[in-house]
Amino acid sequence: MPEHIDLSPNPKSHIKTLARIGYNLNSAISDIIDNSVTAESNNIYIEIDIIDEKAVLIILDDGYGMTPETLIDSMRIGCKDPADIRNEFDLGRFGSGMKMASFSQARKLTVISKDSNSKPQSATWDLDLVEHENAWKLIKHSEVETNDLCSKFNIQFGKQGTAIIWENIGKYDGYPVSELQAVLGQDLTNLKSYVRLHFHKFMEGKRAINFYFNYQKLEHFDPFLRSRSGYQEGPSQKFRVKKGGSIELRVHILPHESKLTKSDLAKLGGTDQITANQGLYVYRANRLIISGGWFGLTRLSQLGKLARVEVNVPTSLDEEWSTDVKKSSLEIPHKVKAKLKQLIREPIKRSQKTYRYRGRLEEANAFWKVNENERDKSISYEIAKDNTLLKHLLSTLNNEQASTLIEYLKNLSAEIPIHHIYEKMSSEPNQINQNDISYTDLLEGLKKLWNK
Ligand SMILES: Nc1ncnc2c1ncn2[C@@H]1O[C@H](COP(=O)(O)OP(=O)(O)OP(=O)(O)O)[C@@H](O)[C@H]1O
Ligand SMILES: [Mg+2]
Repeated sequence: MPEHIDLSPNPKSHIKTLARIGYNLNSAISDIIDNSVTAESNNIYIEIDIIDEKAVLIILDDGYGMTPETLIDSMRIGCKDPADIRNEFDLGRFGSGMKMASFSQARKLTVISKDSNSKPQSATWDLDLVEHENAWKLIKHSEVETNDLCSKFNIQFGKQGTAIIWENIGKYDGYPVSELQAVLGQDLTNLKSYVRLHFHKFMEGKRAINFYFNYQKLEHFDPFLRSRSGYQEGPSQKFRVKKGGSIELRVHILPHESKLTKSDLAKLGGTDQITANQGLYVYRANRLIISGGWFGLTRLSQLGKLARVEVNVPTSLDEEWSTDVKKSSLEIPHKVKAKLKQLIREPIKRSQKTYRYRGRLEEANAFWKVNENERDKSISYEIAKDNTLLKHLLSTLNNEQASTLIEYLKNLSAEIPIHHIYEKMSSEPNQINQNDISYTDLLEGLKKLWNK
């Protein structure tokens, strides 16, 4: 008979591993927001404050809250079995998100919660204590202590709700208060962009949830810009899956950049991000998990940059899609990849068309002509013969000089490093800078020749 030995993890070292499973501030807060959404909140308040010279993060909701027993139970890592069948709107799976997300950012997690039948209750995980005691010892607060915590963090519950409080946040350690404000401000800005995109579906429609950041209401951001002029809806497909629910694929073509307002363009991250973010937008029960990238289905292309494919996946498929506790990545099953491959052919062509059509009108300038030959489907870039400067220069040259210049220009257009430009435009468009080219060296060289 083999012997069974209990080798439970050593809490002191285990917490260090748990804190490093790859969350960042945005994905960690999103995991907390998931819980507030699941709890049917109408309002979610996210606040980053400085209290006693330290950064504190508070997420307060008015969802159904927890009974005193559920609160204690919920503080346990792995409080629920991932194999349990959950309601289709429940964004949870592992019974761990609240703890893991919090420990990835903060050494102290306090949860205060109130359901409609009880007074607020609270409990704290203080990792300093866990480490000191080398045991998972939870701090359960008395009623008086809970009230003190509510006043300290300015938390006021209505009928029900939950507050998650993070203290001793690692990334803000060591900043003097004078610098902390700016650092927090930057993080808050990033966080807002992340939340308005990743939770945009919950902020729209009749049952819209209000999100507030430091008491300012957040507007949602639809990555497909459906309400803007120039938006095109592509084909869609829905298929039922064995485990229940269905997967829905929906194609969107963004309006061309020239039709976007400055604010939309900024929210999309600017022109270069429009290219980088083409691809699949995968939502797990309406929460955006993946924003862009083709996952090997096709290449990222300059011309397909306006194409986006919305993929809606139910949580019943978490296993097949390899959802992990962070819910910040998924794996697309082979069967779905095959369907997507077929579906995206048309939208990419359509995006190319929108882009090409615009290109013909806008990209030719006084020096270059774009010659699109419809019959043999070829495109060439040629030096504009009717350019005023060129005409003037030619008029000053004798025949021999003029034909040398024309020969030079012919070669100049034939030898544009077009593949290089194409590749750079697709991968690093913002690094291309044609405005600050210095011609000093060239002029110096030419002057020497003239003087000879
Ligand atoms: N804001 C909240 N309102 C009501 N209940 C909550 C709230 N946050 C957490 N809970 C309760 O605590 C439990 C544990 O939350 P936790 O995020 O750790 O796990 P989960 O949501 O069940 O699964 P996952 O690990 O996938 O997030 C939840 O299942 C829920 O019952
Ligand atoms: Mg959760």
